[in-house]
Amino acid sequence: MSRIAYVNGRYVPHPAARVHVEDRGFQFADGVYEVCEVHEGHLVDPTRHLDRLNRSLGELDIPWPVGRAALRAIMRETIMRNRVVNGLVYLQVTRGRARRDFAFPAKGTAPTLVVTARSASRETALKVGEEGIAVITTPDIRWARVDIKTVGMTAQVLAKEAARRAGAKEAWMVDRDGYVTEGASSSAWIVTEDGTLVTRPTGSGILPGVTRLAVIDHAAANGIKVEERPFTVDEAKGAREAFITAATAIVTPVVSIDGTVLGNGRPGSIASDLRSRFHEGVELAPLRVA
Ligand code: PDD
Repeated sequence: MSRIAYVNGRYVPHPAARVHVEDRGFQFADGVYEVCEVHEGHLVDPTRHLDRLNRSLGELDIPWPVGRAALRAIMRETIMRNRVVNGLVYLQVTRGRARRDFAFPAKGTAPTLVVTARSASRETALKVGEEGIAVITTPDIRWARVDIKTVGMTAQVLAKEAARRAGAKEAWMVDRDGYVTEGASSSAWIVTEDGTLVTRPTGSGILPGVTRLAVIDHAAANGIKVEERPFTVDEAKGAREAFITAATAIVTPVVSIDGTVLGNGRPGSIASDLRSRFHEGVELAPLRVA
């Protein structure tokens, strides 16, 4: 089946989907994005993702390209046209198309909106859950506003490529004091000996992850202790368990860090349990409106 993309008001065949060469997303990475999971025909946590999109747009003074309800309808339509039942929907909003000039273009310049969707392999997800992933660490060389979900991700591209070359799936970025900030495209977590989940607080050099919040909610509802504090690479290497969270990974166990094997090298029971129960507590919006 051929893929369909939404670009500025039209659903077009994926190979023909394009924006202008002077789109500010292309020239300046002057845009923001969201990725939502699609789980068994439902959009996962759309309210929180669109709340975060609203914040990202507001921080950069980019207007909404369409209303919020319309955007949800476009996301649903894109998912359905691509027959995605399990997978991802990606949306990107840029400041639009304008003659190259660093300062903002004239008021009234239409933002660009692109939405794509793709299916994810159940087998791969199953395998990743059963085997866990390796991570490497790398210095966090990003800018100071990583709380905004911008498409400017050169640092993460380099970090992920370093991970790939090392045979790992994710790179944990590390601040100047030796504390892990987050993954290149995920939030980073460890589990202490007494079963406490530890993750860095928002407002301290991380993106406020939607999946991170879902895990915090799940922990609160199930009597699992969470400490929002920074942790060092050494603490992580000695931790009982570690895992990452992201819309693209839900909860994925980490089994080694820079080659240091955690525990027995198998996914830990706490991370595995969080993974298998992840969808119990999240907002699941049906794609087909009854
Ligand atoms: N990335 N931190 C960073 C730097 C991220 O890029 C992401 C998500 C997260 C996790 O956020 P959430 O739980 O809301 O997905 C944390 C997306 C999935 C991506 O770029 O593909």
